[in-house]
Amino acid sequence: MKDKIESICCIGAGYVGGPSMAVIAEKCPEIKVNVIDINEKRIERWNSNDLKELPIYEPGLSKVIEKCRNRNLFFSTSIRENIENADMIFISVNTPTKVKGLGAGKASDLKWVEACARQVAKYSKGHTIVVEKSTLPVRTAEVIKKILSAYQSDSTEMPNKPTFDVLSNPEFLAEGSAVYDLEFPDRVLIGGENKKAIMLLSQIYSKWISEDKILHTNIWSSELAKLTANAFLAQRISSINSIGAICEATGADVREVSRAIGSDKRIGSRFLDSGPGFGGSCFKKDVLNLVYLAEHFGLLEVANFWESVVHLNNWHKRRISNLVVQKLFGTVSGKNITILGFAFKANTNDTRESAAIQICSDLLEEGARLKIHDPKVKREQIEICLNAPTKELNKIDKNIHNNELMWIKEKNLYEAIRNSDAVIILTEWEEYSDINWIKASKIMRKPSWIFDSRSIVNPQKVNEANLNFWRIGDGS
Ligand SMILES: NC(=O)c1ccc[n+]([C@@H]2O[C@H](COP(=O)([O-])OP(=O)(O)OC[C@H]3O[C@@H](n4cnc5c(N)ncnc54)[C@H](O)[C@@H]3O)[C@@H](O)[C@H]2O)c1
Repeated sequence: MKDKIESICCIGAGYVGGPSMAVIAEKCPEIKVNVIDINEKRIERWNSNDLKELPIYEPGLSKVIEKCRNRNLFFSTSIRENIENADMIFISVNTPTKVKGLGAGKASDLKWVEACARQVAKYSKGHTIVVEKSTLPVRTAEVIKKILSAYQSDSTEMPNKPTFDVLSNPEFLAEGSAVYDLEFPDRVLIGGENKKAIMLLSQIYSKWISEDKILHTNIWSSELAKLTANAFLAQRISSINSIGAICEATGADVREVSRAIGSDKRIGSRFLDSGPGFGGSCFKKDVLNLVYLAEHFGLLEVANFWESVVHLNNWHKRRISNLVVQKLFGTVSGKNITILGFAFKANTNDTRESAAIQICSDLLEEGARLKIHDPKVKREQIEICLNAPTKELNKIDKNIHNNELMWIKEKNLYEAIRNSDAVIILTEWEEYSDINWIKASKIMRKPSWIFDSRSIVNPQKVNEANLNFWRIGDGS
């Protein structure tokens, strides 16, 4: 094993691989960082001269890319060459929930991780430290080790037989603040056995993170800690959303309840905002992964406890779409509804598991005509999520009575609001908190409704504009 890392390869140029390797390249200019992916289009966009075309939107990311790209940060599809030359390989590929076969609907599909392990085993030279960056079920490192050692025993005749160490180094960044979270993490977690391999990875992080924040655990604790962190965060959102529903029924206000409980140091004030339900690629998948793990070990009460977090979230999203229909006199058929925000949270273009998908699909199913606005999500992405091609509005008007699903993406905020019966705020983009409601009221159909699922609208301003108003968790 070398005494210092000179070359890193990251397999997977996604929401984690891209930003996390960009920050390593920025903080460690002496290390060459190669990010590789099988998705040619994604790599093309990472290499685009127009930084607005980067495949991932994160505040501050384009600046880091501009500084490091083609200096010591490279994006490519050359898998073999980059694996061969790497001292350390990060596996940062997708680990979605299995859709069929054993464990379908709960267990993670590890086929991409397994494919990576095979590629690493096949092409690596000398000693390579393999780092699990993807969120993985507990004991996945064992699977990776088995694959690597199977190839090693096949190559016994080789003079320079490759050797490996496997570490777990889960990523805790939150989308929307990924660059900040990577530069100023609460902690970095490294699980593993070989002290030298752990030290080499710690040395990289210690370039910008104080040593007391770099935690060392055994490999299984590291894997489980990541699942547990996401399960706790998801549980907190389902908890406050359940209380929001009680607030609406009783006359309480969830913001006041959150403030009251959040000032208790044992509870803490973060992550207590009621919203349209958690989204993103991780929370649901990781909670279900934990459920699967608990079931596997016969811990059924534990499995049921965590599964209820996901059930509550699904129920909550439907609750919002039902409520919109009820407020609009029990039908939205043929009505225009403006959807503000399609990303699962602000400051990201990620739509995976966004509450907007369920809520828009429900409303389309009820016959509503949707005008969708989002400052960062592209029309093509919405089309994939809703599994329905967009229609031109004039065509919609002509075909009101056919049963086709109808929506358009609108670039201009006030054009999105024009002629609508209702506006639903689903993502907390800053520009939505500055909407001129008097102006909006003049161009909406009457009676007009504003639904604020993110508590970003000033209720007084909406009331002054003579608009009907509903907001999450407000029973007053
Ligand atoms: N997105 C987040 O906020 C976040 C945060 C922490 C951890 N994670 C975890 O990190 C992992 C990656 O998540 P993501 O959001 O970056 O996923 P992603 O889907 O955005 O990116 C994964 C990339 O891996 C590529 N890939 C798959 N198999 C490959 C192979 N064999 N060779 C080369 N490239 C391959 C895909 O083409 C894709 O571009 C997941 O396990 C996720 O749970 C995600």
